[in-house]
Amino acid sequence: MAEIKKINHVAVVVADIDQALGFWQDALGLQLHHVEEVPSQKAVVAFLPVGDSEVELVKPTTDDSGLAKFLAEKGGGMHHLCIEVDDIDAKLAELKQKGVRLINETAQELPGRKMAFVHPKSTGGVLVELYQII
Ligand code: CO
Repeated sequence: MAEIKKINHVAVVVADIDQALGFWQDALGLQLHHVEEVPSQKAVVAFLPVGDSEVELVKPTTDDSGLAKFLAEKGGGMHHLCIEVDDIDAKLAELKQKGVRLINETAQELPGRKMAFVHPKSTGGVLVELYQII
């Protein structure tokens, strides 16, 4: 059975990263680690460590993604919670076997990590992302 490691990050969708940093960095006092374009997610992401976890500020870079739709409909806000596991393929297989609805049936590989999303219909309304650091 795949082992749960920690909450890797909480993602917040924002319209403007600099403006969002006005709260998360300047007012609250988190440190900005780096900002990265993530083409596969059609987004720019600012990473702000909080202990062993991170807050990610996610800004859509196109109008046609789920993130862009979320921003347009809700004006931004908390988007997903990411749970880090030691073996994402095993965890996806376990969830599938338990009848959990997955958005991604197989993990997508990005530099340094593998990821997949679990459907909010199976989680009580929270979009859950799974991560494996590779
Ligand atoms: Co995420």
